[in-house]
Amino acid sequence: MCQSKKAGIIGLGMYLPENVLTNAELEKMVDTTDEWIVTRTGIKERRIASSDEATSDMAVNAAKEALKNANLTPDDIDLIIVATITPDMFFPATACLVQAKLGARTIPAFDISVACSGFIYGLTIASQFISLGTYKHALVIAAEKLSSVTDWSDRATCVLFGDGAGAAVLGPVDEGGILSTFLGADGNKGDLIKLPAGGSRIPATKESVDARLHFIKMNGTELFKVAVKIMADAALGATNPLGLKAEDIKLVIPHQANIRILNAAAKRMGLRPDQIYLNIEKYGNMSAASIAVALVEAVNKGLIKKGDKIVLDAFGGGLTWGAMVIEWSK
Ligand code: ACO
Repeated sequence: MCQSKKAGIIGLGMYLPENVLTNAELEKMVDTTDEWIVTRTGIKERRIASSDEATSDMAVNAAKEALKNANLTPDDIDLIIVATITPDMFFPATACLVQAKLGARTIPAFDISVACSGFIYGLTIASQFISLGTYKHALVIAAEKLSSVTDWSDRATCVLFGDGAGAAVLGPVDEGGILSTFLGADGNKGDLIKLPAGGSRIPATKESVDARLHFIKMNGTELFKVAVKIMADAALGATNPLGLKAEDIKLVIPHQANIRILNAAAKRMGLRPDQIYLNIEKYGNMSAASIAVALVEAVNKGLIKKGDKIVLDAFGGGLTWGAMVIEWSK
């Protein structure tokens, strides 16, 4: 057992597949235009993993970078959590595959499935173990190969998603760290975005494949309406208990689902445009990986310094949502 302390992020890494899919290329695949995609979503291009690259491969690449950034080796890790809705397979868990590929010890390793809120749920779970002193170092990885569950004949969804991975090493910190976290879910709205088949309800059959039920189905208009309120409410759920106002926040790292949702949510939260980190135009929506990658980029660009208070803010399939206030400790 270690001494009880606050948990903080002590290392970060990310991985993006090399292959870029532009809006111009999508124009050749479905009935869409670059202008429609950019004005309705803010997305210009996204990354697509190669056919021999699974979620665990991207997760391992991000994890290796995060370990290096934390000056740690796989031996130092006591827990691995992978947040994903596109695991390599139902089981073993992708976290176990990552554990093996990293050569980590026989530590606990498990996946969580809360779609785009996954990184925040994962950080929250891991931080409990660290602040209780149960474990010293945890690896939280958010990785998605959404291209594997995207219906490339459905213009309403195929323009939105991309592949990638981000990873954080959590450890005990003397100053700052995770100050608050706010999680929620509403299964009554689960139909708004789902992957209907392949589970115990509709196992894979020729009929289910022919009906294209193994791809993401989404009611974008309804999701749009709830997303703005959920994101603003979740952020307030994390900042209010600390008495933080909009001006106290250095940067909000939101889930990158749609530029219009983010602008509307930012307005509702009373934030200036420069307080919101955006990279949706380069990567689209990478579900759980979106916030992880955005956080790595923001830190690498020097936008977050020691002592800054930042907010991670997500909503996603489930529905699920989560927000977290972190005081940067590095
Ligand atoms: N290209 C051209 N036209 C399109 C496209 C496209 N790619 N997709 C839809 N259209 C058409 C529609 O068919 C419709 O045509 P119609 O009026 O003739 O019927 C028209 O554009 C408007 O469609 P809407 O769905 O009303 O467009 P909207 O402005 O709502 O934008 C969008 C759609 C971008 C999906 C938006 O609703 C959205 O972003 N919703 C939230 C989605 C989201 O956040 N998903 C992820 C959350 S959970 C997770 O990330 C796992």
